[in-house]
Amino acid sequence: MFRESFKYYKSKDPLPTFEDVLNIHKPKLLLNNGIITKLAINKSSPQYGLRSTEDWEVYVINSRNGLIFIKNPFTPHGQRYWITRCLKDYSKKPHKLNIDNTNILKSDENWWEEGRKNKKIIDSLRWSTFGYHHDWDTKIYSEENKCPFPEDIKNMTKYVAEQFGFDDFTAEAAIINYYHLDSTLSGHTDHSEQNLEAPLFSFSFGQSAIFLIGGETIDEKPLAIYIHSGDILIMSKESRLCYHAVPRIIKTNYEVWNDEYQMENSDFKHWEPFNNYLSYSRININVRQVLNKGQLKL
Ligand code: OGA
Ligand code: MN
Repeated sequence: MFRESFKYYKSKDPLPTFEDVLNIHKPKLLLNNGIITKLAINKSSPQYGLRSTEDWEVYVINSRNGLIFIKNPFTPHGQRYWITRCLKDYSKKPHKLNIDNTNILKSDENWWEEGRKNKKIIDSLRWSTFGYHHDWDTKIYSEENKCPFPEDIKNMTKYVAEQFGFDDFTAEAAIINYYHLDSTLSGHTDHSEQNLEAPLFSFSFGQSAIFLIGGETIDEKPLAIYIHSGDILIMSKESRLCYHAVPRIIKTNYEVWNDEYQMENSDFKHWEPFNNYLSYSRININVRQVLNKGQLKL
C-alpha cells in the first residue's frame, strides 16, 4: 500500500491529483472533519529565528499518534539564517557529504564556494551528516564515526523540543537532505538510534514537498501531507517508527523566505546566490537523539 501511494505521487505521467493531500496551512476543513486538532502550548519569547510561541499554530494529526505539525513558526529572517547555515556551513568539513570520495571537489575546495561557479557541482550535493554520522549502508552509528554538532541547531532543536515537554531531548545526529524539483526520498523508517523513544525533528525550507506517513509496516496506506517552507514535523510516540517518504517536490508560488528582505537590506547581492539555489531546491534538516538518557557513549 505504501509503495502504490509513493508511485502515485511520484508519477509525472499521468500526473496525480492532489485532492487527498492534507494542506495544514488551510486547517479549517481538516479541523471541522476531525482530521487534525489544534494544540495549545505555553507562551515563550522569540528565539533562534522563531516567532513567539503565542503565534505558533500547532496541530496533531489524529490518525497518526504522536505526529505533531508546526505550521512555519520561523520569521523570514529566521528562515534565511537557517538556509544560509545549511548551504554555506553545514555543507563543510568535518561534516560528511555524499560527494566525499568522488572527484567533484578537490580536497581543499568547498561545495558552496565552488558550486556558485559551477552548476554541476552545486547540483551534486544530496546530503550532509554531522554529530554521529548516519551510515547509509550499515545504518549503524559508532563512536569512531562522528564530529561535533553545531551549537545553534542543537539549541534550536532543544528549544522546540521543550515546548512539547521533551525536556530530555539532546540533538546527537543530523542529516541535511538537499532536494531538487525531481528528487524523491523512498519509504523508510528511522530505527538506527539506540533511543527509539526520543522524537525525530524535521525542519524544511525552500520548495514544498508531499510527505507520506504510513504505519509501522509497509502494508498500511499512508497519509499525504504538504510540507511548506518553515514547517516543522515532530515524529514522536507511535509515529516515531512509522514508514515515511517524500515522493514529490512541488514548486511553490509563495517564496516566504524572501519576505521582508528589501525592508532589512538595501541590496539583494548577499542573498541572491542562496535565493537562486532555493528557487529549485528544498532543504530538510532531520535531527535525532541517538543515546538513551544517562548513556555516555555507544
Ligand atoms: C530523513 C527524512 C524527510 C524529509 O531524512 O530521514 O525522512 O522531509 N526526511 O525530507
Ligand atoms: Mn526519515
